Amino acid sequence: MVDEKAIQVAQEKFGALVRRQLERVEKLKAEEGPIDYSKLDKLIIGVCGGDGIGPYICASAQKVMEFLLADKIAAGKVEIRQIDGLTIERRAEVMKAIPDDTLEELKKCHVILKGPTTTPAKGDPWPNIESANVAMRKELDLFANVRPVSVPELGIDWTFFRENTEGSYALGSDGFFVSDDLAMDFCVATHQGTERIIRAGFEHAKKTGKNYVSIIVKANIIKTTDGLFVDLADRIAKDYPEVKHDVWFVDITTAKLIDPARRSDFKVFVLPNLYGDIITDEAAQIQGGVGTAGSANIGNRYAMFEAIHGSAPRMVTEGRAQYADPCSMIKAVALMMNHIGESEKGRKLEMALDICTQFEKKLVMTGRSTGATGDEFAQYVLDTIQRPDLEQAWQGYVDAAIAKAKN
Ligand code: IPM
Ligand code: MG
Repeated sequence: MVDEKAIQVAQEKFGALVRRQLERVEKLKAEEGPIDYSKLDKLIIGVCGGDGIGPYICASAQKVMEFLLADKIAAGKVEIRQIDGLTIERRAEVMKAIPDDTLEELKKCHVILKGPTTTPAKGDPWPNIESANVAMRKELDLFANVRPVSVPELGIDWTFFRENTEGSYALGSDGFFVSDDLAMDFCVATHQGTERIIRAGFEHAKKTGKNYVSIIVKANIIKTTDGLFVDLADRIAKDYPEVKHDVWFVDITTAKLIDPARRSDFKVFVLPNLYGDIITDEAAQIQGGVGTAGSANIGNRYAMFEAIHGSAPRMVTEGRAQYADPCSMIKAVALMMNHIGESEKGRKLEMALDICTQFEKKLVMTGRSTGATGDEFAQYVLDTIQRPDLEQAWQGYVDAAIAKAKN
């Protein structure tokens, strides 16, 4: 016998979820355009360390950030604020993904540098609260998760535009057991949310002259929400006649990213949330590992910059947090520089990072006492940025790597 009562309870729960999403759509419709940083008297940058290795690598990255912005900080044009309270202990205590007072402080900033936070998973000692990352992306409406990956010697120059507020993540903590035997989760795509991420991808492709966008879906199976991505991409493409676009299924995309004959053709990707999560880890691995990639979470009013990896609590319990690799966080600083109109500083930082992590490698990080500490590595990056021959040295290394790859 089908449990009629269970259906009724499920309908009510589902109704409440639909209501919240429809209310969200109304907000999205009323959305204002992006903030113009150049019009601000003062740019406020919030720094929150997070959990596990987060405070360690975040502090190293902050040093680099403060060095790059020293002139602006001295002139009172940039203020750095330390924001506490985003720890798993505090979140578990108040049973919230982001404690209210912390969220209030975050909302007073324009831009945030955030260390990784622990996301409770089934079986953890922590209560099953929502991921702080996901909550921050939703609360601050950081709809575009922009993740660049480049390997010059392989001709790889990819930028991923991952939708960051919808998809399988929107109701990731709101699925439920309809009965003991039936569990259901939900996937959400709105017209507004889908359109703005696709436009962001096309805008980037046009602005950079890359002129090629690949939409990554599984629309043969997930027909409604992924279907919306495909339909809207076709429509939006008409506004960008110079930008070529195509549609790939996510499974074959995982294969093509490791296909030397095809992968360097790709330029800009636009993906729903979950595929974006998965594919960007794969892409980061091709670049040298998740420790090498940064992540920009961009909205119209706020932006948050972070590592793409987790908080590695084991490194802390084993007493080696100071050896955690801060490169992903430092990369996030470079992305921040590009975002706040300091792209020259961002470019220099990226070159220095390439030299330190891929080419010169005077210091190596092993995650333990056999290698450098995160702070030592950050200092190495700082010294490298200040090299008078930075640009020529970087170009020399890249040319040599390209020549080697050809042989
Ligand atoms: C990422 C991470 C997060 C995500 C986790 C930590 C919630 O994997 O930023 O890619 O799934 O988005
Ligand atoms: Mg991820």
